[in-house]
Amino acid sequence: MIEFESVSKTYPDGTVAVEEFSLVVPSHRSVVLVGSSGSGKSTLLQMVNRMVEPTGGRVAIDGEDVAGRDAVGLRRSIGYVLQHGGLLPHRTVLDNIATVPVLNGTRRRRARTEAAGLLERVGLDPSLGRRYPSQLSGGQQQRVGVARALASDPNILLMDEPFGAVDPIVRRELQDELARLQADLGKTIIFVTHDVDEALRLGDEVVVLRRHGVIAQRGTPAEILASPADDFVRDFVGADREERRLTVRKVDGRDVAVDGTGRPVGVLHP
Ligand SMILES: Nc1ncnc2c1ncn2[C@@H]1O[C@H](COP(=O)(O)OP(=O)(O)O)[C@@H](O)[C@H]1O
Ligand SMILES: [Mg+2]
Repeated sequence: MIEFESVSKTYPDGTVAVEEFSLVVPSHRSVVLVGSSGSGKSTLLQMVNRMVEPTGGRVAIDGEDVAGRDAVGLRRSIGYVLQHGGLLPHRTVLDNIATVPVLNGTRRRRARTEAAGLLERVGLDPSLGRRYPSQLSGGQQQRVGVARALASDPNILLMDEPFGAVDPIVRRELQDELARLQADLGKTIIFVTHDVDEALRLGDEVVVLRRHGVIAQRGTPAEILASPADDFVRDFVGADREERRLTVRKVDGRDVAVDGTGRPVGVLHP
């Protein structure tokens, strides 16, 4: 369980990034923070692994304030995935994945063997392990980034717009893959994105942020779609967008769901 307790962050130059943010992320759940650029998402995420220190409030993991933890040890115990993978360019894919386990004392050979297994887990051929990051496509690099974050078998995964740099089709594949992995692994995930569709697809819970990390609404994806708290959320999730406005038409005795443009999108099952 991760708890944000009235957390604030003002950067040294006076920029207020986050004001009095409170949230409980239950264990084994995925919570998506969604908001526009500059709303404080990355700042919030980085306060969990102490890349950023709060200027007010505290973040606790399983009841323990992270401020009391050794920052390096803490970081190695939490998986962290970034938009551009954050892979080391001069190391092979296998060695990139094995980095943290080796730092934690796993023998190199064993760490490499496990890294090859992780490649398969994230849907890549283990033969890619010998390549360097630049020899992979963007989507493959992101998969390696996920494999690397999983390598020390952390309880917590922090994901900062991890699929933001790939094209929509690959992005959709990566989202499906993550959802499948999560169904298997049950990690505690905080996922950050500015993409509402991604948030609705991946979050057990979705937290919609305004500026300064102020929570506009939190709820399950269905709750947020069903009853946006106010005009800001309604606009942000595109509740009035044509593809979200479904109606039902009877065709050959079946209930066909039709979107706001009149296009059939599916059939209701009783
Ligand atoms: N190191 C920093 N120094 C000063 N201001 C920063 C720093 N990092 C982020 N900010 C500012 O804090 C606010 C929140 O940024 P950030 O957490 O990166 O938002 P997001 O990830 O939602 O785009 C923005 O106004 C941003 O410019
Ligand atoms: Mg960010």
